[in-house]
Amino acid sequence: MPIHKVAIIGAGTMGASIAVAVASGGYDVFLQDISTEALEAGLKKIDKMFQSLVRKGLAEEESQRRRERICTVTEYSRIADVDLVIEAVLEKIDVKTAVFRELDQLCKPETLLATNTSSLSITEIAASTNRPDKVIGLHFFNPAHLMKLVEVVPGLETSEQTCERTLEFGRSLDKLAVRVDECASFLVNRLLGRYMGESLWTLQDGLATIEEIDKAVCEYVMPIGPLALRDMNGADIGLAVAKFNFQEYGERFRPAPLLEQMVEHNWLGQKTGKGFYTYDQDTGKRTVPNEVIHELCSGASNAKASPFTVQRLFIPMINEAFLALQERVCAPEDLDPALMAALGMRRGPLALAEEIGLAACLKETEKMFEIHGERFRPAPLLKRYVRARRQSITGNKERQLAGSV
Ligand SMILES: NC(=O)c1ccc[n+]([C@@H]2O[C@H](COP(=O)([O-])OP(=O)(O)OC[C@H]3O[C@@H](n4cnc5c(N)ncnc54)[C@H](O)[C@@H]3O)[C@@H](O)[C@H]2O)c1
Repeated sequence: MPIHKVAIIGAGTMGASIAVAVASGGYDVFLQDISTEALEAGLKKIDKMFQSLVRKGLAEEESQRRRERICTVTEYSRIADVDLVIEAVLEKIDVKTAVFRELDQLCKPETLLATNTSSLSITEIAASTNRPDKVIGLHFFNPAHLMKLVEVVPGLETSEQTCERTLEFGRSLDKLAVRVDECASFLVNRLLGRYMGESLWTLQDGLATIEEIDKAVCEYVMPIGPLALRDMNGADIGLAVAKFNFQEYGERFRPAPLLEQMVEHNWLGQKTGKGFYTYDQDTGKRTVPNEVIHELCSGASNAKASPFTVQRLFIPMINEAFLALQERVCAPEDLDPALMAALGMRRGPLALAEEIGLAACLKETEKMFEIHGERFRPAPLLKRYVRARRQSITGNKERQLAGSV
């Protein structure tokens, strides 16, 4: 059954930009929120997004055509016959399950129900309905109308057909739609979390300064340094995510105490004018690093720690990539494109692993494991690749074995 009409529940940051992405894909969009005020605020954001797209070269008439496809509703009764619902309400399980229960009662039996949750269980949300086979995660990145990746996350009971249709829908929005098996933080944010966490430990251990870390990472492979990125997203959000990953995955995601201290000092980043950097109050522009942080860190230096190299931050991301592959969270060939599309990396973690050499990655991970313990326990799959003398992860057999004796 083809998808024509799409309802989006929640007109906040994500709902508004998902509406633009979906209308731009040619679909009729019904944007729903709990109040007319929230819908009006959502529409204002949507108009700004279209204006910005026009400034970037989208034809005015085309922008208008897309905008006209979006209509707002406060009553669920108006969306009973849509083919797909994308829920983007608050990240609270009780709120989401209440929304899904209501949608399940109201929507026609064939309607697919998708959630944009970043961290809640798709399986639990699906279990609140009588159609768990038609419930799926559809994880857009912010802002959804610009970001190229969408993670398609089936829950335990989601049918293959629902998964295929959702992947196809994602591709029809001109996005890279990647199937990701359900795990905490899904694929991209899981790997990102490990790397972001290690940037804080590096600082905490007094191995490099704020500027050294961000500069090295930008020169290597990222469009923005991890500490500038933390300031953009907010240390409070970062701490909540880090605590969640720690709870789900255990020791290797243990947050550096520095993050908690940042939150205690209200150094949340751009939104409070101070984080790892300070920000001009009038222009919001980044000025100088917040040097006091180095004083907080100086006593913590781990005497055994090796000197800072940029690979130190990517070795944990590579190790996490192997753990994810081992769990079959995604197809190996999807991993790098997903990370590149979502994070703007110039090369993905598997390409970096091949560049460094799989054996060298393992050796470095083992060295770090000796110094820092569980955070660096090597992924069994990485060990197996090294034992097999593979040089490549996604290449063909000849390429994989090239150079091996
Ligand atoms: N912000 C991000 O960067 C980001 C990225 C990916 C995924 N997400 C996920 O997207 C979802 C929405 O996040 P957001 O940042 O857009 O939140 P937001 O707070 O900006 O917007 C939430 C909207 O939902 C509305 N709402 C609340 N309860 C509702 C209900 N019962 N029915 C209809 N509308 C309701 C609110 O009025 C608000 O407009 C969350 O699950 C979040 O985890 C967020």
